[in-house]
Amino acid sequence: MKAWNKVGVVGAGTMGSGIAQIAAQAGCEVVLVDSSEDALQRSQEKLGKVFARLVEKGRVTSSESESVQQRITRAKTLESLAPCDMVIEAIVEDLDIKTTLFQSLEGIVAEDAILATNTSSLSVTALARGCTRPDRVIGLHFFNPAPLMALVEVIPALQTDADLASHALAQMAAWGKSPALAKDTPGFIVNRVARPFYSEALRILEEGIASVQDIDASLRAQGFRMGPFELMDLIGHDVNYAVTSTVHAAFYGDSRYRPSHTQRQLVAANWLGRKRDRGFYTYEGGVRQGNEGQCVEGVAERILAMLMNEAADAVFWQVASPADIDTAMQKGVNYPKGLLAWADSWGIQELINIMDSLRHRYGEERYKVSPLLRDMARQGRTFF
Ligand SMILES: NC(=O)c1ccc[n+]([C@@H]2O[C@H](COP(=O)([O-])OP(=O)(O)OC[C@H]3O[C@@H](n4cnc5c(N)ncnc54)[C@H](O)[C@@H]3O)[C@@H](O)[C@H]2O)c1
Repeated sequence: MKAWNKVGVVGAGTMGSGIAQIAAQAGCEVVLVDSSEDALQRSQEKLGKVFARLVEKGRVTSSESESVQQRITRAKTLESLAPCDMVIEAIVEDLDIKTTLFQSLEGIVAEDAILATNTSSLSVTALARGCTRPDRVIGLHFFNPAPLMALVEVIPALQTDADLASHALAQMAAWGKSPALAKDTPGFIVNRVARPFYSEALRILEEGIASVQDIDASLRAQGFRMGPFELMDLIGHDVNYAVTSTVHAAFYGDSRYRPSHTQRQLVAANWLGRKRDRGFYTYEGGVRQGNEGQCVEGVAERILAMLMNEAADAVFWQVASPADIDTAMQKGVNYPKGLLAWADSWGIQELINIMDSLRHRYGEERYKVSPLLRDMARQGRTFF
């Protein structure tokens, strides 16, 4: 398959601008398209500032900065994408709008050009279905901020050409990324495996076991850069609640992914987190108010056990390999360790014991041990 030398990006917002920067830094010629002139201009200004800072810090020379920026051309219409080897879309998260875009692109790009989507929650397979040549469609899920987060989830659709996934993995590695291959299932790897970080923390809060501050402190003590509540405040409760609801619905209401009433209330109150200066915490001038919490015994252990069980279950359901799951959580959301390597270090039986005691206490499906862990304990196996 052809190397991706000429890259098109549709959508010059948060993600598209970052993806254009990565491709240009990797030496590709980039055409960045957005229907909004404003968005194109903002993106250009932002990139100018980013590179000015990189030059100031000595990370790139001014001539490098100039040539990278010159490699990105901007346009308002899709026709300028005609010579591209591949086009990645980062427009609004709506299946119909993305399908219409891909259909238009099929009339513009070459027969063998690749069409990629940066969707976080839609089925790549459903998107491919709308195309005449669904075999050239693939998911390339970057993480925010794209130039800084190394992970790219590579998601072949059911219809994707068998060689395209390995080609995409190699291209992403050539762009300096750490790709992880994921099955086209709800939430792919990260947005599925990370659910308990939020949901179990919310549950512990709702049960009155520990406060927001104490739960955050307990997770930070394990090496997480942010506790669950600080992180949800940063992501925005509207966004985080929507992702949880989408994953929950996509799993036909599996209680493990059930959204939280507490978070729904925050959304209803428009206390969306940092962007509204109020979420679980209050903020003044962007600075979080209130005292730091203290670690509470058992809190981090319970959340970590749920995360490890979720990661193991993703292996059980063939969503991704153990190595790709550990890469994804470390490179996409900065987890301090890979969850499965972490499970190995705890001991698989120890993890099972914690899950079983939660299941015994609550009697809920939510705390069901992944069958993979039981098999592994019986056979004395570890993940790595
Ligand atoms: N923001 C994140 O953290 C994040 C992370 C991973 C993936 N994603 C996914 O990336 C995509 C983009 O998200 P974003 O946060 O960058 O959005 P954004 O709102 O910042 O940018 C979207 C841009 O697309 C443009 N656009 C919309 N429809 C268009 C069309 N038909 N043709 C051309 N341009 C069009 C808009 O003008 C806007 O500039 C979504 O699918 C989202 O789910 C977002």
